[in-house]
Amino acid sequence: MDLGLDGRAALITGASKGIGKAIARGLAEEGVDLALMARTGPVLESAAAEIAAATGVRVLALPTDIRDAGAVNAAVERARAELGTIHILVNNAGGPIKRPERQITWPDSDWLDDVDTKTLGMLRVTQALLPHMPTDGTGRIVNISGIASVSVLTNALTHGLNNSAMNHVTSYLAADLAAARITVNAVIPGLIATEWRETWAENAARQRGVSREQFLERTCADWGIVAQRWGTMQEVSDAVVFLASDRASYINGARLTVDGGYSINVRG
Ligand SMILES: NC(=O)c1ccc[n+]([C@@H]2O[C@H](COP(=O)([O-])OP(=O)(O)OC[C@H]3O[C@@H](n4cnc5c(N)ncnc54)[C@H](OP(=O)(O)O)[C@@H]3O)[C@@H](O)[C@H]2O)c1
Repeated sequence: MDLGLDGRAALITGASKGIGKAIARGLAEEGVDLALMARTGPVLESAAAEIAAATGVRVLALPTDIRDAGAVNAAVERARAELGTIHILVNNAGGPIKRPERQITWPDSDWLDDVDTKTLGMLRVTQALLPHMPTDGTGRIVNISGIASVSVLTNALTHGLNNSAMNHVTSYLAADLAAARITVNAVIPGLIATEWRETWAENAARQRGVSREQFLERTCADWGIVAQRWGTMQEVSDAVVFLASDRASYINGARLTVDGGYSINVRG
């Protein structure tokens, strides 16, 4: 299937590692030039160099804290100056839970920090990029949500808040941007084998005195993941690349779950 993405440009937040980097790689493999954002410059630059060398597309590393509106505007301006029209925006920046504890006990500043990053960061980057997106039907926004929006995960109060907001903003903007012919969809990943999740699995297995494989098998059973395994970053990336493509032109306001059947919510 020809996705029609060759020669387009995309901006991806949180693209230095994890799911964001995998999405960047997936789009680059389809011939999409990239502007990548994350805070830590050296890690972002190394990811950009790796993707450029592997795929031959142009990859701009734009170290940016998306909690800072001025920094976001400056980075988007640089992306536009160097890449021209930006067709695709992937709002992905987020990350692990800060501390494993009941988040209702958190100080106000910790709640605000999480919401400032994922929910408000998404709004800031979207607002800054919109004037530079095309209105010919090739514009795409994909928001990376998560299963904390559709189920209660222990110690994931702010992730639930943020991912529910991602889902709602996706619906809201799908309607709002219809006149500009920009589609807005959400991808809802389940348990995904990112670098930090690998470390989490290894540590949890060690604490329980079991192997990594035994811990994962038990966790997938406990969580009700019907695929009986965690997902790969590529499986999330493939869904995003499809939604970013011409082949998804009639998909708007959708929530595409990539969770191995977790949210089927099997009982009994
Ligand atoms: N892993 C999972 O199992 C899973 C499941 C469901 C949903 N998700 C969602 O998928 C997304 C990616 O998660 P991940 O697991 O791949 O996380 P990750 O590996 O920790 O990567 C997070 C990325 O976001 C960047 N980032 C964090 N804060 C930022 C800020 N203020 N400004 C700019 N960039 C920032 C990080 O770089 P810097 O730290 O250098 O800024 C990094 O590039 C998140 O939205 C997460 O909620 C993940």
